[in-house]
Formats: sequence, C-alpha cells, structure tokens
Amino acid sequence: MNEITFATREEEETLQDLFTGYGMALAGDIEEHVLVKAGHKVLAGAMLSQIDTNLFHLLVFAVSKDGHHQGIGSQLLQELLKKPENYCRTSFDGVDETYTVTTVAKGDAAPFYQKNGFAACDFSVLAYPFDEQCEECPDKQDCKPVAMMIECHQYKERK
Ligand SMILES: CC(C)(COP(=O)(O)OP(=O)(O)OC[C@H]1O[C@@H](n2cnc3c(N)ncnc32)[C@H](O)[C@@H]1OP(=O)(O)O)[C@@H](O)C(=O)NCCC(=O)NCCS
Repeated sequence: MNEITFATREEEETLQDLFTGYGMALAGDIEEHVLVKAGHKVLAGAMLSQIDTNLFHLLVFAVSKDGHHQGIGSQLLQELLKKPENYCRTSFDGVDETYTVTTVAKGDAAPFYQKNGFAACDFSVLAYPFDEQCEECPDKQDCKPVAMMIECHQYKERK
C-alpha cells in the first residue's frame, strides 16, 4: 500500500511537472494537493475541495506516466471517496452521511472514473464555477470533457 499524504512546498516542482505532462496544472496552493508516494517518489497527485457538507469536487487528478495500469489511480481515488474530508484543506462543518463527489474527466479518463463507480452527468449538476469551466476552453474539442459524479455513504468508523 503506497502512502497518501498532503504535498509540501518542496514537492511543488515535482507535482507541477507531473501535471504539465498531461497539459494540466496545479489547482491551487501546493499544500492543498495530496500525493501518492513510494518512499520519496511521487506516483500520483490530486486536489479535492469541499464545497458543502454533502458535496466535494475533484479539481485535478493524475498518475505519473510510468505508474499507469498498476492500480495507483484507483487506490488514491477510492481513499479520497472514502474519507474526503481528510484530504481537503478547506474544512467545512462536518460531512453528511450521504455526500456527492463530482469531477470533470478528460474524455480519455472517463472509463477510469466509471470503473471506480462514477457516472456521467450533466454539467449543470456541478457546483459553480465547475459547471461552466469548459464552456469557453479552446481545448474542449480535443479534451472532450465529461462531467461525472458519484454518491457515497459514510463509513461508520471514521478517522
Ligand atoms: C486516468 C488515470 C488517472 C488512471 O490511472 P491508473 O493508475 O492507470 O489507473 P488504475 O491502474 O487504477 O486503473 C486503470 C483502469 O482504468 C481504466 N482506464 C485508465 N485509463 C484509461 C484510458 N485512457 N482509457 C480507457 N480506460 C482507462 C481501465 O479500466 C484500466 O484498467 P487496466 O489497467 O486493466 O487497463 C491515468 O491514466 C492518468 O493520470 N491519466 C492522465 C491524466 C488524466 O487523465 N487524469 C484524469 C483527470 S482529467
């Protein structure tokens, strides 16, 4: 099992490079991102944001190119879905028993999210400004973004 931790300032360049490889960027302050690490090696990164007591949005998510198809992405995603508030720097007043996690997948990544329990949804389901984020984007034709959501139920034992 790889370690999942919050990123530190020292890891900013490494994570930025990982995202840049996919035409992506850090989604906020480096310390708001989480990493999957094996020793000192960064295998994956993500940023999850809590929008409300029953709503989270995954802003960015990627696995390093040499780590694909080894279950690393699924490990990170499932952990985020299980205890989302543990991986958000912006904390709210608790989490409802049932909560929704949304994201916008690049078209290529949609099957990965589906494999992990997400379903495609209308962009109008997403919170502002995520519902509008792709409207004016010049990369929309190539990216083929898909709005996605999953409804989760709290586990009884929480850390
Ligand atoms: C999508 C991504 C996160 C998957 O990470 P991963 O660690 O390889 O995923 P896992 O090993 O847990 O699961 C892989 C499974 O997801 C699905 N999957 C992953 N990428 C896929 C793709 N491009 N097309 C179709 N299915 C895909 C397949 O079912 C695959 O199963 P397989 O390994 O038996 O073929 C990774 O490919 C990535 O970082 N891509 C670039 C950035 C990106 O698209 N991020 C998503 C947010 S936009």
